[in-house]
Amino acid sequence: MELTREEEAILRGEEGEGYQKAMEILVALGKVQGAQRLIPVRSAQVSGVSPMTIGEAGMEFLRDWASSGVKARIYATLNPAGVDLKSWRSLGYPAPFVRMQDKILKAYTAMGIVPSCTCTPYLVGNLPAPGESVAWAESSSVIYANSVLNARTNRESGVSALASALLGRTPYSGLHLDEDRKPTLAVDVTAPMKDMADYAALGYAIGKEHEGVPLFRGLRPGMEELKILGAALAVGPISMFRLGEKTKLETIEFDKAGMEEAYAGLNTTDEEPELVCVGCPHASPREMRDLAKLKTKRRVWAFTARQNKVRIGGKNLKVVCDTCMVVSPLKDLGVEIVGVNSAKAAYYCAHLSKLRVRFGPLGELLR
Ligand code: F3S
Repeated sequence: MELTREEEAILRGEEGEGYQKAMEILVALGKVQGAQRLIPVRSAQVSGVSPMTIGEAGMEFLRDWASSGVKARIYATLNPAGVDLKSWRSLGYPAPFVRMQDKILKAYTAMGIVPSCTCTPYLVGNLPAPGESVAWAESSSVIYANSVLNARTNRESGVSALASALLGRTPYSGLHLDEDRKPTLAVDVTAPMKDMADYAALGYAIGKEHEGVPLFRGLRPGMEELKILGAALAVGPISMFRLGEKTKLETIEFDKAGMEEAYAGLNTTDEEPELVCVGCPHASPREMRDLAKLKTKRRVWAFTARQNKVRIGGKNLKVVCDTCMVVSPLKDLGVEIVGVNSAKAAYYCAHLSKLRVRFGPLGELLR
């Protein structure tokens, strides 16, 4: 890789061990990806926040890095933590878990990362302009940035996004390049798309079988549908999609039968959910407004960024901030059967948290 004089100096350790480590990570990554050089990035979104996902070893790694005195050189925001930082006690989160969370967040904030604790950074001020290169981790925000905002980012790991935050650079490879952003497959959607969960099922079905950049035809999604579709696609290797009409690409169909198959694949139980979780990715202000009108006898947690918190009525309905249903220790909170309308949540609640999952439209989950 060709490095600038300044980058070479950082790599030699002339700005200290912490920045040297960050540069070593980016250079190693760049070599693996075949990048010729590093490019500047305007923002970072750093993942790896909940004790559930990074554990003791990850926490010590971060504390060690932070103790070297490094600071973010660009605007950098943080993915959801494992707890609601204000209401953890009333929601029943275990105190040792919260103490560990506190140490992790202190390490990130010492490095100048904004503790936004959301997977929708674009809804709370980390909003790249079209064409702008950024270094984001969190697959759902990566695919949203590439596909909806038309910004450019590879799917970074928590560590590489943090290295980019500290240096303001990333390898020039993958989805930063024009040639990797072209659609590779067209999907004719003929299944009826009536609910957010239908978009989640579509994304899951395509994401688990394909890679590259799918182009969807026959869709008229709003912002919330795009968000849930992207998150589901990114359960597999896809980090960008397009919407369009005419194409000469190889075309597959997503029909009613495909939709039913996707629903069946995401449901692991037909039992009643003990807790319905919405907000994967974190609920938008519009979703929160709709949820505020909801009356239900079922226990519902709505996950959102703290900035988008609204007062919602009914004792069964709680707004939970800073965290989500996947990175919260729901089993420790006594939940075994969860209801979700997001394919990403369904997949990870089943595979990571080992919960029993009811997937479907919110209206059905609440009945
Ligand atoms: Fe966000 Fe958690 Fe879903 S991080 S995309 S709400 S799994």
